[in-house]
Amino acid sequence: MKQFISVNDVSDINALVKQALAYKAQPFLDKQLGANKRIGLLFLNPSLRTRLSTQVAAQNLGMEPIVFNVDKEGWALEFAEGAVMNGNTVEHIKDAAPVLGNYFDILCIRTFPGLVDKEIDYSEKIINQFIKYAGVPIVSLESATLHPLQSLTDLITIQESMASNLNIKNKKPKVVLTWAPHIKPIPQCVANSFSEWINAWGEANFVITHPEGYELSATYTKGATIQYNQDEALKEADFVYVKNWSSFNEYGKVLSTDKHWMLTNAKLALSNNAKVMHCLPVRRNVELSDEILDGPNSLVTQEASNRVWAAQAVLAKILGA
Ligand code: CP
Repeated sequence: MKQFISVNDVSDINALVKQALAYKAQPFLDKQLGANKRIGLLFLNPSLRTRLSTQVAAQNLGMEPIVFNVDKEGWALEFAEGAVMNGNTVEHIKDAAPVLGNYFDILCIRTFPGLVDKEIDYSEKIINQFIKYAGVPIVSLESATLHPLQSLTDLITIQESMASNLNIKNKKPKVVLTWAPHIKPIPQCVANSFSEWINAWGEANFVITHPEGYELSATYTKGATIQYNQDEALKEADFVYVKNWSSFNEYGKVLSTDKHWMLTNAKLALSNNAKVMHCLPVRRNVELSDEILDGPNSLVTQEASNRVWAAQAVLAKILGA
């Protein structure tokens, strides 16, 4: 694997999931694979799970991780070609990325969208310039449009849950991605990426439900059933993935804060005793109710724990496992 930016960088999704679960069973299986190699984790935005799970994963493979909070500790980066840098930016990506590429064997980047200009965000100009100028494999720790380490984790968690649940072990599961309310505009990355991975996996009946106006880019959702009635969508669901996102069409806007879209036990009763997922962080009793998060159907802690194994499987592939 040369980079990990989207599901398109993965040749065999199920094999990658299997590798991740092998690391979960034996974390130090390949503890020499990354010996004498260094991985840089660059954060232009905040993180809890991604930064810590990727460090743990790298260390399990014998790599030395170094974290750099570019947004707080680095020079302000310029990304515009031909920029006259007489403003607030201090260093051009063309100059910074090759230096970072010389310091590290793998570079990982987290960069959120601005949610102002769809064209700029969906061009992935920041991560693409790291790919262009760094000269080493780039791993997305969430970019402007996608969060592939989260989506791989989600698929690991679904497959793990299916294997231990006789109700759904040998069936094609119904997976529902449901929009949830939030107080502020949130990127479409997790929803885009989850859709892309579930579609690419191809082993689920995939339904996406949201209020009208929250349609995601068809690039990622093509093939999924779109339902505007959440109750209908939840019927017979085996997995419910809860996530807020801002509007793609009216880019970055919050069009609804309708509380009725928050998942509750009453709504979950419509499902096939579905397991509930969320990438975290979650706003309790806004996006998801306490009763769900603290209840027996929640997979959120298991899901967040699985971030380590997803990252470990990806890094191992890049290291040549
Ligand atoms: N799910 C996720 O990416 O969490 P963090 O933002 O805390 O890394």
